[in-house]
Amino acid sequence: MREPAALPDPNLYVMVLENIDRGVIAMDRKGVITLVNPAGEAFLGVSLRNCLGKHFHDLFAGQQTLLYMINIALEKGRTISDDEGVLLQRPRQKPLPIGIYAAPIFSRQEGQEGAVLIIRDLSRVQELEGSLRRADRLSMLGTLAAGLAHEIKNPLGGVKGAAQLLAKELPAESDLQEYTRVMVREVERINGIIEGLMDLGNPRPAEMGEVNLSKILGDIILLQQEAARGQNITFSLLVDPSIPPILGDEGMLTRLFLNLIKNARESLEHEGRITVESKVSSDFHLNSPGGRPSPIVIVKVSDNGTGIPAEELDRIFTPYFTTKVKGSGLGLAICQKIIEDHRGLLKISSSPGEGTEVTVSLPLR
Ligand SMILES: Nc1ncnc2c1ncn2[C@@H]1O[C@H](COP(=O)(O)OP(=O)(O)OP(=O)(O)O)[C@@H](O)[C@H]1O
Ligand SMILES: [Mg+2]
Repeated sequence: MREPAALPDPNLYVMVLENIDRGVIAMDRKGVITLVNPAGEAFLGVSLRNCLGKHFHDLFAGQQTLLYMINIALEKGRTISDDEGVLLQRPRQKPLPIGIYAAPIFSRQEGQEGAVLIIRDLSRVQELEGSLRRADRLSMLGTLAAGLAHEIKNPLGGVKGAAQLLAKELPAESDLQEYTRVMVREVERINGIIEGLMDLGNPRPAEMGEVNLSKILGDIILLQQEAARGQNITFSLLVDPSIPPILGDEGMLTRLFLNLIKNARESLEHEGRITVESKVSSDFHLNSPGGRPSPIVIVKVSDNGTGIPAEELDRIFTPYFTTKVKGSGLGLAICQKIIEDHRGLLKISSSPGEGTEVTVSLPLR
């Protein structure tokens, strides 16, 4: 029989456990918790002191799936895993979507010593999936609507031309002149909506180049400040000067942040605060399927405006969903598309009455 290999330094085991991003929770044969690594503490939302010595039944009280899986590992000595559909309930924190792996622990001499539970945080993965679902829905709707938009644009041009002719024919002082102006103005409004829609369904290909994000953000804020003149709105721009130029389409990125900052401004009723913050994320990378990981830039646009009710959060990306009298409801749908073209991610969190925070992550290269 082969000699067991010499064990590495126990300090190394400790270091590995302390540095991995999986929660590791071990228990003895009776189910009493004997080890929780720092990631485990963070996921559980319970300090090490409050876990050690507790029975797993108490630590996971009421969490049937987890209890069932631990039982299989501990009592049956079998390994079991579940990579979807488990929500970890935590005191005073949102439930966390997790992947779980539960396995028996065997020692070299004594047989089964207990069980270990390994927990993976799936919230990022689920965000990514949510973003992909939105993108899918959008591209279907977009294709359909763009075809329709094209058909509407031509007769619309005819209506506008006729209204302009009519204006010429009518005496300048005629009361009816006002009607022709309304016609032209409204036709132009429909045209604007339709152009937005056509962009969405059949956008021009992105022209990638080096883009200075800080400059774009600075210019937009300058314009928005101008538009909000006379209102009591404070704009703050906190840019990280170390952000290198990112690879992107300048026009599209301008449109993206303009839409977001405009939404923030529109959520305020004449007074409030808008903060735009950019930084390079030092600790995580956005992986595109099959692509190489790249450092990412994070831009946060936050306001202390009306906020978005929870039941609307899922609908705000749907084209034409708007709660505004003059809104087209295409702003966020367009943002989603632009972000997708840049292989980025968009996340919105909002508390009604308190405000909204939109986080855009874009790969640097
Ligand atoms: N920062 C925000 N605060 C509060 N509500 C928001 C915010 N951003 C978006 N919303 C909500 O999401 C809806 C959809 O936004 P979206 O930008 O797609 O369209 P819109 O702003 O209504 O119209 P458009 O952008 O075409 O002028 C808005 O009508 C609003 O209800
Ligand atoms: Mg908008």
